[in-house]
Amino acid sequence: MRHLLDTRTLAKDNALLILDTAVDMAATQQREVKKLPTLRGKTVVNLFYEDSTRTRISFEAAAKRLSADVINFSAKGSSVSKGESLKDTAQTLQAIGADGVVIRHPASGAPERLARSGWIDAGVLNAGDGTHEHPTQALLDAFTMRRRLFTNADGSDASRGRDLDGISVVIVGDLAHSRVARSNLWLLTALGANVTFVAPETLQPYGARDWPVTVRHDLDEAIAKDQPDVVMMLRIQSERMHAAYFPNEREYSRHWGLGDARLGALPERTLVMHPGPMNRGLEISSAAADSPRSTVLEQVANGVSVRMASLYLLLSGERASERSSND
Ligand code: NCD
Repeated sequence: MRHLLDTRTLAKDNALLILDTAVDMAATQQREVKKLPTLRGKTVVNLFYEDSTRTRISFEAAAKRLSADVINFSAKGSSVSKGESLKDTAQTLQAIGADGVVIRHPASGAPERLARSGWIDAGVLNAGDGTHEHPTQALLDAFTMRRRLFTNADGSDASRGRDLDGISVVIVGDLAHSRVARSNLWLLTALGANVTFVAPETLQPYGARDWPVTVRHDLDEAIAKDQPDVVMMLRIQSERMHAAYFPNEREYSRHWGLGDARLGALPERTLVMHPGPMNRGLEISSAAADSPRSTVLEQVANGVSVRMASLYLLLSGERASERSSND
């Protein structure tokens, strides 16, 4: 693996390799000294053209725990706001010797452009591009599901090597604008899970009917018929909405929110997930977000392990020789 750009083209073996490596990384995070020497001498640049809290600090923590040098670059306050092109920025990163570039960009396809351009030798990790993909989020979600679902009788982790065959995952909310939903769909499908999308028609992604997913409009019906092992709630992404997609917030919450009554109607085993940031009271109630079945904070913690695994697998070893032999 040279880059991590999407889950649509990520082979199942590579996905399992990342997830299993993340199990090892998580074990190191229980130690008093969390830092490993693995990426000493490597430079990772966080290139964020869009706001982010969780993903940016998660990648930063992951790179630092592997002893890489980290440079944080946000588009605000940089030459990007003076109109510098992605190419010029990339060439600057090449000149300072970046080994890895973690990029978040409002344009779908920007990470792939960077990876395929030949402007840089660095490994590129997509940290969210437009409405396209957010592969490390899907990987940390799958990691979280495996960890909760597969434990030994003594409570220890039994997730290594396991896929998600036959698991039912219902993803609810602003699917149209969600790179998280898309990355989850491709990864979960590759791992054998059955995925349902629930949203009003206006918030279903264009083209979803051609994808390996059950499309529904009614959340109560999905809970009753799909008997989900996981319900994943998505944020209403007002910043990407330039029209009215539903009548008002109360209506949305009543029909598609995970409120207290619906929480009670979920099967006992069902996990509640949300990638964050949450709109409490809109797509998810506080009771649901803070309940023992909620994995919201575990997702954040697991994100560091999954990103450590991704950075390690992409950046350790000799990139230059790999480049001449692989592409
Ligand atoms: C998501 C994103 O940015 O795509 N958040 C995240 O990475 N934790 C989802 C969102 O913004 O709603």
